[in-house]
Amino acid sequence: MDSQELNQRGNWGSKIAFIFAASGSAIGLGNIWRFPMMVGLKGGAIFVLTYILSVIFIGFTVMLAELTIGRHAKKNPVGAFNFIKPGSPWKLVGYMGVITGVFILSYYAVVAGWAAGYLYKTTIGTFRRLSTFSGEEAWEVSDIIFKNFSANPLEVLICLFIVIALTTFVISKGVKGGIERWSKILMPALFFLIIILAVRALTLPGAETGLSFYLKPKLSEFNADVIFFAVGQAFFSLSLGMGTMMTYGSYISKKDNLVSSAGWVCFSDVLVALLAGIIIFPTLFTTPGISPDKFQAETGLMFQVLPIVISKMPGGNIFGILFFILLLIAALTSTISLLEVPTAYLIDERNWKRSKAAFVIGLSSFLLAIPSALSHEAVKIFTKLKIMANMDLIFGNIMLAIGALFISIFLSYSWKTKNALKEIESGNKHFSLKPFWLINIKFLAPIVIFIILIFIIIKTITG
Ligand code: PHE
Repeated sequence: MDSQELNQRGNWGSKIAFIFAASGSAIGLGNIWRFPMMVGLKGGAIFVLTYILSVIFIGFTVMLAELTIGRHAKKNPVGAFNFIKPGSPWKLVGYMGVITGVFILSYYAVVAGWAAGYLYKTTIGTFRRLSTFSGEEAWEVSDIIFKNFSANPLEVLICLFIVIALTTFVISKGVKGGIERWSKILMPALFFLIIILAVRALTLPGAETGLSFYLKPKLSEFNADVIFFAVGQAFFSLSLGMGTMMTYGSYISKKDNLVSSAGWVCFSDVLVALLAGIIIFPTLFTTPGISPDKFQAETGLMFQVLPIVISKMPGGNIFGILFFILLLIAALTSTISLLEVPTAYLIDERNWKRSKAAFVIGLSSFLLAIPSALSHEAVKIFTKLKIMANMDLIFGNIMLAIGALFISIFLSYSWKTKNALKEIESGNKHFSLKPFWLINIKFLAPIVIFIILIFIIIKTITG
């Protein structure tokens, strides 16, 4: 029996394996689907700039905090808080994370399922006929295709099932044999594909207009909303605030350098988001008949606009197949990390076997995902309650921000930064970013997140 079997928790094989797996968690629909959508909705380049600053000052800070707590405790989020402050209510923050993970998975897997469905549709050539329509008409037909697909309970549930089944399979194989092995294959494939697609988009005639919307900030577009959504996007995209990085951190060896690991994950996450924007915006702006206001539509960007683009582009079908493969890969390495948090909890705290834990959580997430899956006109009551959009607001934005707030307060004022520094410095003798990180974790991150949460509450109340 090898140590992996003896120890159900497992460990990463190397630092680079961790970076692949953690970037796999971070890079996902959040970068390729949600980020360009936010850029479109929230002012273009100024959002991009605010997002990058949020990642540097707050995202990196909270990521290093989560990795440090996780590696120190070698446990899932619930166990980690309980290990560092036994018997204190802090473990509730861990429970909050486990629950948030299952809920995020429940709607995230639905969108991942759409990507699977669209990969299939592109492969069989469903979107070819769009090329015969002019801009506006093409938009309407594409919209109908999307609505028919997302409102078809059978198709949507089959796609959802495939995503959850694949995720459960990988998680049941464990840290080294599952997550690490698959991330090592899937992440390089993803980088390769995304670079090909970005080059393709940049060489489209007229790409400059899209690029300038995307990269030339207009200060007049800046407001509180931009900050709120940029910080929220940073948490979502970096998988922060629910203990994913704590759990992944718990499998890191004491010798590894947490600071540079966190840096690499943040860097690759931002890079992929930026590249996704480079694919989307020039492509959108150079497609005749598609006016930029189309990407104000929430689900529109990817699932309605892209098929039109594909159909009208030379070699578009190949581009489309590559794109949806990419989206699916990115989504799967993230669903894996969402499922790993509750699985690790059941293994560590309830002594379950990995395979049983993965199966039970997988099945529960599938059942929980059904309302989201059917909330696009398939079932009236779910549609009316806007289940998916509200899940994203509550769990994908608010709960992650609350989680990140508690994590920074816990580290700074309960566990204390001097203890955290001991953990960080065990693998990094010369922590040159120490003053930067200390100011951010103690003051900047909690204050900014707190203000943002107050802003959300006021906004929700005043409608
Ligand atoms: N970071 C993932 C993405 O960008 C989503 C995610 C959020 C994963 C929270 C785990 C935890 O798609």
